[in-house]
Amino acid sequence: MMELLSQEIEKVRESFNAEVGKIQSASDLRVTRETYFSRKRGLVTGLYNRLKEVPGADKPGLGMEINRLRVFIETALQQAEATQLQDGKNRIDYSLPPSDMPVGRLHPLTFVRREIESIFIQMGYEVAAGPEIETEVNNFDALNVPLNHPARDEHDTFFIADHDGMILRTHTSPVQIRYMQSHPPPIQIIAPGKTFRKDNPDATHTPVFQQVEGLLVDKGIHFSHLKGTLEHFLRLFFGESIRMMFRPTFFPFTEPSADVYISCFLCEGKNDSCPICKGRGWLEVLGSGMVHPQVLRNCGINPDIYSGFAFGMGIERMTIVKYGVPDLRMLYDNDFRLIEQLG
Ligand code: PHE
Repeated sequence: MMELLSQEIEKVRESFNAEVGKIQSASDLRVTRETYFSRKRGLVTGLYNRLKEVPGADKPGLGMEINRLRVFIETALQQAEATQLQDGKNRIDYSLPPSDMPVGRLHPLTFVRREIESIFIQMGYEVAAGPEIETEVNNFDALNVPLNHPARDEHDTFFIADHDGMILRTHTSPVQIRYMQSHPPPIQIIAPGKTFRKDNPDATHTPVFQQVEGLLVDKGIHFSHLKGTLEHFLRLFFGESIRMMFRPTFFPFTEPSADVYISCFLCEGKNDSCPICKGRGWLEVLGSGMVHPQVLRNCGINPDIYSGFAFGMGIERMTIVKYGVPDLRMLYDNDFRLIEQLG
């Protein structure tokens, strides 16, 4: 009797071992549990029933054997169940509709830069680039900016420690120098990029900002070409109805020089509390001028043969003017509401 039951315990263990590896689903799991533990026909339950027929002296030993088998099977089934749950989580149901993922947008500064680029590309300009870490020579001297000019002051320019003569460029104009020194005229480029000035952040300043430089050099270029070019650009960028104003100013690298203003497209100067122009009616959007003959000479271009114009604009400035953003710093806050609204 004892021999027989012992063999049966072994048989049940073997049949379980053969079956446990085949469990694939929750319902397989349920069936296997039934097979071994159901009250009426469970194989392990059956072993316990058979124990009643065993002589008293053999009961404890066999009982322990059956207990061990039961614990073994239960543990194995629990493990199989845990694996099931894990698989269920990792399984991807490709038939489900996608979850509601927010779609990203271009940052306003990116799409404004691209719009500016595309208008000039349509006019035949090429996009050029230069380094953000520049030499003082390219950033100032070659552009005719004298050593005593206030822009070269410690207070305005980031000088690179332990690298004499190296700075973070304060404008994109050094790209003019690099380009003219490496390309003979005719030249027709824009140069977008980051620029750096020691400004404390406020509604209209940040120490890092972006500019787009423009440069055109050829034979017979005069001020009307500059005016026509900027007028075409500004109309496309801000709208056909704006008016332009050129106001004389001074830049060491252009002569004559002009600041360019557009009429306020929101109130046309009629609203004293206009959020965009504050009642002034005009918005400054560009610096510009005819390339100074000395700058051409510094780049090996003969000013008796060639002339050119140049201009520079701030991308942040163009963005806040166009969209009426009250504070430039909002462009750097990463507030998705602003990005959604302007996008
Ligand atoms: N570099 C000037 C600035 O940063 C802008 C400018 C560029 C003016 C080209 C004239 C010509 O203010």
